[in-house]
Amino acid sequence: MFKNIHIYHAIFTIILVYFLTSCKSHVRSITDYSSQKSIQADHAMVASAHPIATKIGLDILKKGGNAVDAAIAVQFALAVCYPNAGNIGGGGFMVLRQSNGDCATLDFREKAPAKAHRDMFLDEEGNAIIEKSQYGRLAAGTPGTVDGMVQAFEKYSKLKNWGILIQPSIDLAAGGYAITQREADNLNEEQNNFIKYNRFDTPFHKNSWKKGDIISHPDLAKTLQRIKKRGRSGFYEGETAKCIVREMNAGGGIISLEDLKNYRAVWRAPLITTYKGNKIIGMPPPSSGGLCLSQLLKMIEPYNLSQMGFQSAEYVHLIVEAERRVYADRAKHMGDADFYPVPVKMLIDSTYISSRMVDFDKSKASISKNITHGSAQSEETTHFCIVDSEGNAASVTTTLNGSYGAFTVVKGAGFLLNNEMDDFSIKPGTPNMYGLIGSEANKIEPNKRMLSSMTPTIIEKDGKLLMVVGTPGGSTIITSVLQTIVNVLEFDMTIADAVHAPRFHHQWVPDHIFVEKSAIYQSAREQLKSMGHSIKERGNIGRVEGILIKNGKLQGAADIRGDDDVRGF
Ligand code: DON
Repeated sequence: MFKNIHIYHAIFTIILVYFLTSCKSHVRSITDYSSQKSIQADHAMVASAHPIATKIGLDILKKGGNAVDAAIAVQFALAVCYPNAGNIGGGGFMVLRQSNGDCATLDFREKAPAKAHRDMFLDEEGNAIIEKSQYGRLAAGTPGTVDGMVQAFEKYSKLKNWGILIQPSIDLAAGGYAITQREADNLNEEQNNFIKYNRFDTPFHKNSWKKGDIISHPDLAKTLQRIKKRGRSGFYEGETAKCIVREMNAGGGIISLEDLKNYRAVWRAPLITTYKGNKIIGMPPPSSGGLCLSQLLKMIEPYNLSQMGFQSAEYVHLIVEAERRVYADRAKHMGDADFYPVPVKMLIDSTYISSRMVDFDKSKASISKNITHGSAQSEETTHFCIVDSEGNAASVTTTLNGSYGAFTVVKGAGFLLNNEMDDFSIKPGTPNMYGLIGSEANKIEPNKRMLSSMTPTIIEKDGKLLMVVGTPGGSTIITSVLQTIVNVLEFDMTIADAVHAPRFHHQWVPDHIFVEKSAIYQSAREQLKSMGHSIKERGNIGRVEGILIKNGKLQGAADIRGDDDVRGF
């Protein structure tokens, strides 16, 4: 009898060991990868903030998936390997152009929960409580990413296999991956926030992270498994929804089961404008990105920029004066057009644009105090670009808002909450974390979407795809996209040079030109100062990804400012 038990036990142990080792090899940690910053390819390309996500997207393209299939796979992968901004607890915008020229945009921006109200981030004296709009549960809007991906899949997927798009991210979350030096530094820097804004030891907790350490996300793997199995209900209902509401009830949060059940991403008509014969396809409100980019391009269109020269004082002055005026308009007129009458047509009308630049003095800086918005006649995010072998293109910017969002991980579900509520104007004139101010148009209202600067963009020339571009960077997103486009169209740069070139930024208030260390030669800086500009050096501006189609080839660039990576075949 006992002898038999020993035999059964031995057989059972052998089977168990075999099972565990085969499982383990199935979810092996990913340790061997590196970033590639530029490439040329014949058929298809992916550029994203992380090499693992880029590879996952490229594998989908190689399996015959189209740009949307790859975009969905990359979005879920970034939620695992790039938790600063990749997300399922946040939102974003997708701009699409099909090879036949049809365009579409998808708004999967977060919404204010139904219990949100205008003064929810003010104390009794009416002072803004920044900590509440930027950290922890109350800072979170109802997440939009999962419904966005489901809707994109239903409308455009070629593979028609939802599971195949998510499985690589489930494996990645379960098996883990080795972190880069940059991520180790970020995690070490933010340890106190992870400790302060969580009630348990999240996968991000550790005394000291170093390059090569493995991070895995078992709870996130389970959540992704539920999304794989049940689509939107795997997130907005059932176990995941219960985890989110339990997290809210643990203190301070207001997202309810109803908010989750009611959330829907929205297909919106693209905002289309032209610049010197190029068709610019951008995101309409609730992003200010497409609108501000259109205004900027229209304001600078009459000028010969290539003659002025890259980052000459004359060029920087023109761009800065246009930016000053556009950001004043943004603060006054822009918000969620489902709640506030954003005068889109007026803001890009050519007579209006000329009137805004009528007081532009070629030799002197304006003063932001004297520049107000025009009137009507009557602040880690991440971007990825994909082109498939049929010439369909996807440009997607997605975010939790700040790096690691609200820092709060949903217990049991393993993902970070966004802190997107800070993108509302929490009090007129009070700057948000990117120094942006706003007013009535962008006040908090239940179920409203907060104004964004995200600027996923696609450019077409003579009916053909020319460029796919976008970036993170809060308020600097719009101006970084603008400069990358101008670098290519006006200064004839390769996409790699255009993406890697140093950048500058002005946003009306505060009244400074912010410059990267290597931007704008000293002589031009002196000239700008003598015109009345104030110049302030700061760290990196944006992390641009771009794909350019030139002579029938795809040329891609991933920003040197991060671990970003571009690959193609
Ligand atoms: O939607 C927006 O404009 C901001 N939430 C974007 C934040 C961002 O780009 C942060 N990245 N550096």
